Amino acid sequence: MSHYHIKDLEQYYQAYRKSVSDPEIFWDEIASDHFLWRKKWDSVLEWDFSKPEVTWFKGAKLNITENCIDRHLTTLGDKTAILFEPNNPEEAAQHITYKELSQRVNKFANVLKQQGIKKGDRVCIYVPMIPELAISVLACARIGAIHSVVFAGFSAAALSTRINDADCKMLITADGAYRGAKTIDLKGIADQALELCPGVASVLVIKRIDAEINMKQGRDQWLAPLLVNASDQCVPEIMDAEDPLFILYTSGSTGMPKGMVHTTAGYMVYTAYTFKNAFQYTEDDVYWCTADIGWITGHSYIVYGPLANGATTVMFEGVPSYPDYGRFWDIVQKHKVSQFYTAPTAIRALAKEGTDLIDHYDLSSLKVLGSVGEPINEEAWHWYNDHIGKKKSPIVDSWWQTETGGIMITPIPYVTPTKPTYATLPFIGIQPAIMDENGKELIGNRVEGRLCIKYPWPSIARTIWGNHQRYKETYFSLFDNMYFTGDGALRDEVGYYRITGRVDDVIIVSGHNLGTAPIEDAINEHPAVAESAIVGFPHDIKGSALYGYITLKDNGESSHHDKLRKEINQLISDRIGPIAKLDKIQFTDGLPKTRSGKIMRRILRKIASNDTANLGDISTLLNPEIVQEIISSALET
Ligand code: PRX
Repeated sequence: MSHYHIKDLEQYYQAYRKSVSDPEIFWDEIASDHFLWRKKWDSVLEWDFSKPEVTWFKGAKLNITENCIDRHLTTLGDKTAILFEPNNPEEAAQHITYKELSQRVNKFANVLKQQGIKKGDRVCIYVPMIPELAISVLACARIGAIHSVVFAGFSAAALSTRINDADCKMLITADGAYRGAKTIDLKGIADQALELCPGVASVLVIKRIDAEINMKQGRDQWLAPLLVNASDQCVPEIMDAEDPLFILYTSGSTGMPKGMVHTTAGYMVYTAYTFKNAFQYTEDDVYWCTADIGWITGHSYIVYGPLANGATTVMFEGVPSYPDYGRFWDIVQKHKVSQFYTAPTAIRALAKEGTDLIDHYDLSSLKVLGSVGEPINEEAWHWYNDHIGKKKSPIVDSWWQTETGGIMITPIPYVTPTKPTYATLPFIGIQPAIMDENGKELIGNRVEGRLCIKYPWPSIARTIWGNHQRYKETYFSLFDNMYFTGDGALRDEVGYYRITGRVDDVIIVSGHNLGTAPIEDAINEHPAVAESAIVGFPHDIKGSALYGYITLKDNGESSHHDKLRKEINQLISDRIGPIAKLDKIQFTDGLPKTRSGKIMRRILRKIASNDTANLGDISTLLNPEIVQEIISSALET
């Protein structure tokens, strides 16, 4: 019997010890007992972090949709698989059963085939949070096409870059999206992107908002009529354990976003196993993760992890503030949600609205509260615990990344005692290490440093699409024989982990990773800009917000500054998306630089955070005098 469902702390420690001392036996048992394989593996794990190369369940054959759908049909066919809650609360929710999901995925898969999509082809999905988003993801997986979901809030430029990087043949999109009281012209944005994407031969368009849109002849087709004629039976493509399942882009400190490649078997096993335990999902529960499927949280914990466990997973199209800030609680009450998984930024935004609205709703169905995406501050943790969980639902502060595929450090609810702001203990199979700056592992408790993982886990991303060298340099070069996360962490006196934040130039704004380099590149495109540097600064709701220091080519007229601020933010919005807009812009005569010409962001960060008492040694700068100037003019910004 494997440790598939961890029920108490002793069992956690037993499973953990086994997963570290005999990882191959441990994962062999988990994988054997709980999934459907067309052929079993020849070896459980082969790895070499110096290349880096990681292979899980080598030689195994499977299709992930058989695990997420088909195998549940006899026992759970009439159970709701996807519970869709529309943007407009007046519109009826949809309960899509496993049977119906099977039919809809198969039909969609057959349409993809008719359009010439084959195993290994890349399909870009740019669709809002409607059932067709999950269905298109699963339809790709059914036929072995590699999906690349792009969050529907990204701009045309961001979309085209991602389509071209992965060389996608097809785009799936919608006529538009609802977002609170607004509608978004998704097809218009897609059309603009496609002007730069000659490789996209066909576009399937889902009707959602009934907008008048442009359909390009020979390229664009409405999805609905194609589905009518498609069969609801589609034989699944038999995939190799290590065949890519999807690409998902994440921001890096420098350069292009990185197309993280996740493969089939290890990803399936790990997301299913973590879902079961980190949320303690049991059969009649209704689970709701508020993320968008455009992010890894949605891939792993709205689609694959829950469905592999035969769960009911809620998909919400709207925003927490529409029609008012009680919307989340209205949905919890209406659907009797048992597990609720959201981001600290949403918690802070809701906390700001007070508790009056919450009191209107019955939240007694809640059993587990999750948090993900950024460190949760103490105040938000307590507010969540007191007002939403009523001090009876454990908070699962789960730390992980796009690259890790699944949850890595987390309490197991009702098993691990929680501690505010701590992600607590490594999940089973995860071997974290805290490293000092010289590459030495800090052993024992009460240590703080850089967080690495020293042994492979099944859902580690295998590469960056088209750039294995970058994968190696980013994650496996700083520390020997370790995966480097980019985060800082501490281990307290009892061995609990607390994530302290990024140690590189990635800034997390409202739970979204933003690299400074692409934002600076966008700003520098403005003809008036000579140079720019972006740093994060603390923000009550967003966690961090962006502060831009910008040097103009001709600093002359300060009366133009407001106009320039608008233009610069518009440029960022066009190149990346509104989430990357700057909260503050300070025009400066220069930026503090080292003698080798590198911008000293450390100093800029302190000024942005209003923490100028302790700037450290600035005498080695090329231009130390600029620091005081920036501080003085910051006060006026
Ligand atoms: O800095 C960590 C932060 O989010 C980063 C990963 O972002 P992304 O790839 O977009 O994935 C987000 C959802 C899994 C991490 O490097 N992060 C994520 N969860 C936490 C967190 N920081 C602190 N506590 C967390 N629970």
